[in-house]
Amino acid sequence: MFVLGIESSCDETAAAVVKDGRTVLSSVVSSQADLHSQYGGVVPELASRKHIEHIVPVVDEAIRQAGLDLKQIDALSVTRGPGLIGSLLVGFSFAKSFSLARKIPWIGVDHLEGHISSVFLEEDPPLFPFVALLVSGGHTSIYSVTSHTTFERMGQTRDDAAGEAYDKVAKMLNLGYPGGQIIDRLARTGNPGSIPFPRPYMDKSQFDFSFSGLKTAVSRYIKTHPQSYLETIPDIAAAFQEAVIDVLSHKLFAAAREKEVHHVAVVGGVAANSRLRERVMAEAKREGMRAHIPSIDFCGDNGAMIAAIGYHYLLQGKCSPFDEDVYSRSWTPSGAKHK
Ligand code: KG4
Ligand code: ZN
Repeated sequence: MFVLGIESSCDETAAAVVKDGRTVLSSVVSSQADLHSQYGGVVPELASRKHIEHIVPVVDEAIRQAGLDLKQIDALSVTRGPGLIGSLLVGFSFAKSFSLARKIPWIGVDHLEGHISSVFLEEDPPLFPFVALLVSGGHTSIYSVTSHTTFERMGQTRDDAAGEAYDKVAKMLNLGYPGGQIIDRLARTGNPGSIPFPRPYMDKSQFDFSFSGLKTAVSRYIKTHPQSYLETIPDIAAAFQEAVIDVLSHKLFAAAREKEVHHVAVVGGVAANSRLRERVMAEAKREGMRAHIPSIDFCGDNGAMIAAIGYHYLLQGKCSPFDEDVYSRSWTPSGAKHK
């Protein structure tokens, strides 16, 4: 089955064609990062307008790169939420129209379930059951995953997401937006042990996270070292990053031990982080577990992961009605949809 996946929840307009939920025939991502960087963050009104400009060319390009004819697309999967409403509506309305015109089924899917499904786009995907750490700009959560469409959330952040903390710290250091990639690069030349930043929630609240205190600690460090901090930016980046990763890795493996699984996954934009990838791989080896992290192209928002999750709902005979709406915030509990 050829599924066209469409993603427009934030500042990426993305489309992809995926065969049977596994084989990526094309994946086109048009990022608006340059537009929003001048404002230091995503401006929702501008994001929606860019999606409207890009959606048709991006879908056209995805179908062309897949080497398919429009008529060969069997079904559509589109992000329904969580995300920015104006942005979601562009992809969602487009998908409805496409489905109506082509008379093919379509399904609205959860962006977070899409991220988790990105591991199935790789060779040698995880075996069920597994535990997944989802780390993105908007979310930081741990899930127990028992089938392609069964996700139980074990914990989540009480305040900032990990990617949001990266972005805010980068902003404090005047490094630009989005900050994750910049801090990742700078940290390689810094000393992670140079500044003892806190490891929030390390031993409490089980699988929940909190990153706002860590962000405040970095801000306090900058204020108390008004001149000298400029010479130690790589050290600050490395020390901040190590604190984030210590907590992420500790909780991921604690959750995996609790569920007695042998496979773990790390997904979402922050899964592109080189130090996180390295640490999780090494820790999995020590624990006798297998770690699965998608290739960099499928960590950030993309249409392929949306096609991957949609395929499994479509296989179960589920599809969305034309009066379905988008949603801005995560569902609780996860899984209360497509009923
Ligand atoms: O999944 P994503 O593309 O969008 C959301 O659904 O939020 O994640 C974007 C987030 C941003 O906060 C960005 O700074 C972060 O992922 N990010 C990184 C790296 N690349 C992107 N964080 C740390 N290290 C990276 N290499
Ligand atoms: Zn995302």
